[in-house]
Amino acid sequence: MKDMKDWNKIIIANWKMQLSLAEATEQAKEMKKLLAKSKAKTDTAVVVCPDFLSMTEVAKIFKGSDVILGAQDTYPGDIGAFTGEVSLKNLQSLGCEYVILGHSERRAMGETDEMINKKVKAVLERDMVPIVCVGETYEERKEEKTNFVVIHQIYEALKDIELKPGQKIILAYEPVWVIGSGQVIDANEADRMSQIVRQSYVDVMDGQNLEALSIIYGGSVTPDTVARFTSLQKIKGVLVGGASLEAKKFMEIVNKA
Ligand code: PGA
Repeated sequence: MKDMKDWNKIIIANWKMQLSLAEATEQAKEMKKLLAKSKAKTDTAVVVCPDFLSMTEVAKIFKGSDVILGAQDTYPGDIGAFTGEVSLKNLQSLGCEYVILGHSERRAMGETDEMINKKVKAVLERDMVPIVCVGETYEERKEEKTNFVVIHQIYEALKDIELKPGQKIILAYEPVWVIGSGQVIDANEADRMSQIVRQSYVDVMDGQNLEALSIIYGGSVTPDTVARFTSLQKIKGVLVGGASLEAKKFMEIVNKA
């Protein structure tokens, strides 16, 4: 695995459950082609997280290319009697290096802080990179609980984590009410939240392993808004849903980040 310390920027596509198998392979081929052309961006990690079903085909396409494979979730362990789940062992065998954890859409389906913490540990055990999503709902923001919610989610997700040298963690701040909404928060607010995310990480990790952390932003990011976030000192990249479904648009984000 290429050491993440080398990455200047990290741009992650979350395809969610939005593409058919045929569409996913098509987009993957297109993305690989476009990324190969944009040579200037070799310092940017471009990670694509397809659904589990598309993963085998997409992995074949990305093999040997500059696109890095990621997953949208995982079971926190290896082969076993866990109906309907997907193991990290199988994900890793396909070349998957990053795993999104605790996405708000999964939290809304019942994923608990405890499950997320187990998954973070399992992902690190395999020397893969967890992308831990945190963020407040609209109601929580209205009730002025934003800071509390984000700090709490980070504390719970990273509880009792011990990093081995060279391991990495990505914390993705994604205001839940912005995801898929077409709205974006302004730069000041993104900056303020990135400081809260960083400080929470420092606190829970007891001041250690700061070099392991990358903070990214997510929520309705487009080619027009990406630089607002990536120009901030503490934000290293973006997690993109809707605008990652078209290879051309996503590559525009990569190029403008
Ligand atoms: P969006 O999704 O870009 O469509 O808002 C982002 C995400 O859910 O990670």
